[in-house]
Amino acid sequence: MDKVALTLTLFGLLFTCVNLAKQDIDIYSFHINSTVTSRYATTVITSRVANLLNQSQEVHFEVKIPKDAFISQFKMTIEEKTYDGVVKEKEEAQQQYNQAVSRGQSAGLVSAVGRTLEDFKTSVTVAAFSKVTFELTYEELLKRRLGKYELLINAQPMQFIDEFHSWRSKVAWVKFYPTRDQQTKCDVCSKNGLNGNLIIMYDVERQKQSGDLTVSNGYFVHYFAPTDIQRIPKNVVFIIDRSGSMSGKKIEQTRLAMLRILSDLAVDDHFGLITFSGHIQTWKPELLKATEGHVEEAKMFVKRITSGGSTDINDAVLKAVDMINKYPQEGSASILILLTDGDPTTGETNPLKIQENVKKAIGEKFPLYSLGFGFDVSFEFLKKLSLENNGVGRRIYEDSDADLQLQGFYEEVAIPLLTDVHLNYQGVANLTQSTFNQYYNGSEIVVAGQITDNSLESFTTEVIALSKSTKVVYHSSVLTGDLSSDRPEHENFIKRLWAFLTVKQLLEKMVLLKDVEKENAKKEALDLSLEYKFVTPLTSMVVTKPQDEEIQVAHKPKEGEKPNRHSSGSTKISRRQKALSKHVMSPDLYPYLFFFFLAVRIESPTQKPLTTSPPSRSIRILKSSGNAHPLCYDVPLAQKVRLQQNVPSDFSMNGQLESFGGKGFSQIAIHYKTNHHLLLSATEIIYNDGQKTVKFSWEQDLTHHERENVSLILRSNEMDVTMGNIRVVILLHKKDGDVFLWPAIWQQPKDVSLMGILGEADISYEELPGSQTPTLKLKDQEVKTSWVMVKDYRLASAPVVGCWLVPFQAVAQRELADFTVTQL
Ligand SMILES: *[C@@H]1O[C@H](CO)[C@@H](O)[C@H](O)[C@H]1NC(C)=O
Ligand SMILES: *[C@@H]1O[C@H](CO)[C@@H](O)[C@H](O)[C@H]1NC(C)=O
Ligand SMILES: *[C@@H]1O[C@H](CO)[C@@H](O)[C@H](O)[C@H]1NC(C)=O
Ligand SMILES: *[C@@H]1O[C@H](CO)[C@@H](O)[C@H](O)[C@H]1NC(C)=O
Ligand SMILES: *[C@@H]1O[C@H](CO)[C@@H](O)[C@H](O)[C@H]1NC(C)=O
Repeated sequence: MDKVALTLTLFGLLFTCVNLAKQDIDIYSFHINSTVTSRYATTVITSRVANLLNQSQEVHFEVKIPKDAFISQFKMTIEEKTYDGVVKEKEEAQQQYNQAVSRGQSAGLVSAVGRTLEDFKTSVTVAAFSKVTFELTYEELLKRRLGKYELLINAQPMQFIDEFHSWRSKVAWVKFYPTRDQQTKCDVCSKNGLNGNLIIMYDVERQKQSGDLTVSNGYFVHYFAPTDIQRIPKNVVFIIDRSGSMSGKKIEQTRLAMLRILSDLAVDDHFGLITFSGHIQTWKPELLKATEGHVEEAKMFVKRITSGGSTDINDAVLKAVDMINKYPQEGSASILILLTDGDPTTGETNPLKIQENVKKAIGEKFPLYSLGFGFDVSFEFLKKLSLENNGVGRRIYEDSDADLQLQGFYEEVAIPLLTDVHLNYQGVANLTQSTFNQYYNGSEIVVAGQITDNSLESFTTEVIALSKSTKVVYHSSVLTGDLSSDRPEHENFIKRLWAFLTVKQLLEKMVLLKDVEKENAKKEALDLSLEYKFVTPLTSMVVTKPQDEEIQVAHKPKEGEKPNRHSSGSTKISRRQKALSKHVMSPDLYPYLFFFFLAVRIESPTQKPLTTSPPSRSIRILKSSGNAHPLCYDVPLAQKVRLQQNVPSDFSMNGQLESFGGKGFSQIAIHYKTNHHLLLSATEIIYNDGQKTVKFSWEQDLTHHERENVSLILRSNEMDVTMGNIRVVILLHKKDGDVFLWPAIWQQPKDVSLMGILGEADISYEELPGSQTPTLKLKDQEVKTSWVMVKDYRLASAPVVGCWLVPFQAVAQRELADFTVTQL
């Protein structure tokens, strides 16, 4: 019986331990309860706030939710009375909103969108000594990418993961119990608050290659992710924009990503490269096998890509299609990947014409994936271009990790396992998408539908597809009696999952449809959104507030859209707010919250151990060397280590590595002679010279402190420390909610031995030619290595650089345990 049911309950309670400076508002509890049944996640955020003032004041509620989720409920409870948000058709909600604005009483709309999260904000006036409870529910179907599902919860005060509890057969708990002490002393409890995303990554165990089936209340869901098949070699053509707008960082990151992608091609893949501006350039006229020689040659081509000129998307894509068509490979999967950052400006520039041309040329034979770089590109056009050709459009955000985004996308489609996948069911209706052009390793196909024929004794699934060399068929048949769920919580979720998936797919399909068909799809999506109370692009939620029936409207925001388009409304609210004292439940307040308890419960008959959160369990340390390329190595988190020691000059530096999920150091201590001690954390810097203690704060203005042979220079987020003949710069990095320290040694004595995990002054190695895996000769040892990209935190800008990844032991000739210390 392969009922897959993974229930995960995440539950947090927060208490205020300190009231705010003004002591007039008290957020006395904050819960996040996220339940994942299989892959369908329902998250409820509850915040309870008391007004401690003897007069009424405005209380704000602000949270971030995942972009792919739909809000399905919002309510405020004030003095035992509940005000429910009502989901309405967008136009109707807008009308109501406009009327309210014209009566001069409404507040502005409340959303903005980021890379993975969007904001939900609202506020309400609360009477003297009264309380308000905000409760927001959102739902999402978690997608499997690269072999795992990811549940992202943006809950600011969740840095601490205290312990993992053991797994029992059906229920597993992950508990987070930071003590009050730990919370208040934690290094990131600075002004930024404990600002973090909790990411829960998991995969499920699959008992059958034919997929997992769950049925309940007349609905079914089928998750299909077989692994018993060989990869299919691919024919891939990369179509790369090198127009003028790609200049600078974008083209650099593209080159970087392409070099890595080329290294990842399998030897039996065939590939082609096209770069385009106003004119099309191919690396080779035909697709070539990804042999070592060809890959090296292609890399040379990539390194020489420069930018300039206009954008001829039409000719570039048609050329690529032509190349794939001309050099077909038996038993392979063809893929086109287009990367561009702008609209077509030369050749055929009419988007409709381009779509028509490309669709005709591809003829449904293979997918076209489009990657839109930045926000100058008409993403709608690219999305459409891809959807029409069995692919998807993806946005690449202009950021320091753009190269990793590009590479990440490629990895998702790097291993085709099946093509022409058809999933068939008997006695069903209202199926979600059930044919797929290609299926990739690490992904999953999900089909849901309604069971209309209740007379059938068994429910059967059939999947027909092409694998590398043959047609494959997966059958499974389950007695319907066995399928009726014994879990009450399943009753609703399959139906909601079906509705969620149907709405998502209809919204996508609408992009491609015209006239009556488009209207029908829209109506169907709208009806379902209203029935299931989803806030989708077609609906809005109207929240009526107690005072004068004032209303607010929450839309599903569109990416790239400016928040608060309704300026009249938002002007009103800002005027109101001036009159009232304003308290925003925003990240600034979180340091005042005391995080009390958080638990994750995983309940599943077939669960696989999860990795909870740690995007990382180690940090990667970069080490410049005498050679052209730096070395790097991993050091596990959550311990105290000796970073550097120089006995003759009486210098040592120790560091506390963050607990897992962290990116760097939470504290660094430097000792010089017997009397100088410098302790740095994310919140403050304390220096003692044996007599006096001086405190610095990272925020203060440029400060220079000089004494004996010690010099301390503090500028924004950087402390430059010289002690004797050693110079170290400690940087404070603040990125994506992470705050951590990083040491950079800029000057050290060459003649004496240094000991610590930062390694000795200069390490040289030799790159050994010839072998399959790259190998270095390091300290007279042959060490297998791989080329990886790392952020160089030794510089404030943290640029991404390449390095040879080697085991720590190979660099230090010692075990890590030899460098741990008990005291900083
Ligand atoms: C969390 O949500 C689940 C499902 O709705 C519910 O059964 C459970 O009681 C909730 N837990 C808490 C602590 O509110
Ligand atoms: C509120 O309290 C302050 C002092 O705590 C007092 O001066 C003021 O008169 C009170 N206002 C009302 C409306 O009771
Ligand atoms: C698919 O990915 C898994 C790991 O995610 C790997 O173990 C497996 O070998 C891959 N399958 C193929 C055919 O490459
Ligand atoms: C499901 O399909 C049936 C007929 O096949 C149709 O009458 C019904 O309206 C559909 N239901 C929904 C919710 O689309
Ligand atoms: C400062 O450093 C110099 C040379 O490094 C040394 O000779 C001198 O004694 C040091 N002074 C103090 C006060 O430590």
